[in-house]
Amino acid sequence: MELNLIQEKFKSLFETSGDIYTSPGRINLIGEHTDYNGGFVLPGAIDKAMYCDIKPNGTDTVRAFALDLEEYAEFGLGENDLPAKSWAKYIYGVCREMIKRGATIKGFDTVFAGDVPLGAGMSSSAALESCFGYAINDIYKLSFDRFELAKIGQATEHNYVGVNCGIMDQFASCFGKEGSLIRLDCRSLEYQYVPFNPKGYRLVLVNTCVTHELASSAYNKRRQSCENVVAAIKKHHPAVELLRDADLDKLKEVANEVSPEDYIRAEFVIEEIQRLLDIPAYLEKGDYETVGKKMYETHIGLSRKYEVSCPELDFLNDIARECGVSGSRVMGGGFGGCTINLVKNELYDGFIKRAIESYEQKFKIKPKVYDVVIKDGARKL
Ligand code: GLA
Repeated sequence: MELNLIQEKFKSLFETSGDIYTSPGRINLIGEHTDYNGGFVLPGAIDKAMYCDIKPNGTDTVRAFALDLEEYAEFGLGENDLPAKSWAKYIYGVCREMIKRGATIKGFDTVFAGDVPLGAGMSSSAALESCFGYAINDIYKLSFDRFELAKIGQATEHNYVGVNCGIMDQFASCFGKEGSLIRLDCRSLEYQYVPFNPKGYRLVLVNTCVTHELASSAYNKRRQSCENVVAAIKKHHPAVELLRDADLDKLKEVANEVSPEDYIRAEFVIEEIQRLLDIPAYLEKGDYETVGKKMYETHIGLSRKYEVSCPELDFLNDIARECGVSGSRVMGGGFGGCTINLVKNELYDGFIKRAIESYEQKFKIKPKVYDVVIKDGARKL
């Protein structure tokens, strides 16, 4: 990232200089759509991030410039000051969520940019929220801890963006650690760092470069299905608060009380939560072939049961299988974006060549490839 471009723009717009903060996007090895069900996830922060130059301006107005889009916005921080531009809503939302939690925030000037690809399932929006959350917390000495910053980012999605997301993305962006994945219990927010250095393998993302519309409403609908099933199970088992507390037997009991669609969604989630429990032990043993098999299982579940895949992602998954890639699956919310692939070193070149050529031939779009590098979370530079 060309930080000096951000700094130069800041100087030319605001005739002063500020401080630079950053927060990254994330990958997730396995554990998809489990976070809002209280289950486990295994994400890691990556070397693609959002960066902002920021300084209080002594007024009540935020003056913000999105360098990648060449767009400017000005807004106040009152309850009724929601800006029109979608990127500005994230910054405003973070401020509002902090104010709701008792913070005093005044106006500031900022220029931001990033290299997290948009709509690729790598959490560019969480990176933006966490970058500003961390920065504003620091410049106004607000003393929110990283847990609260992650929750502030998540609440921004819920209340100002309209996506009822879980906590995984913001947590990974705030808590990322170089070289480690994070095994996060999304209910208690207990977490452990799991060193990830798969000898003999590479982790690579292949971006379909498509984002299907309505992804956010489809996402919210999935979450609603899970909640419907929990409500049904709870009638028989009052202790069940989230699908995390259920199992396949409890699900079967309510087969006639929920819609077939809700049933199959919940079945996927319960299976996925279970899959996750086994993974750290395999990682510890260095058994990446089994980890990879589980990734394929996740893909099949996400595609056929949870129905958040798309032809482009399924195509890349098939290619991975045909090339002998150890593990491959759709990553993130779905409906486009990337597959994440665990591939033996010696198969890497052949797989990438075949994935690019055959995808381009079929969909007339050149996919993008990113080698995953696990990096630190939100920080001041
Ligand atoms: C999106 C959401 C996350 C999570 C994933 C699916 O990235 O923001 O909270 O639900 O989808 O695992």
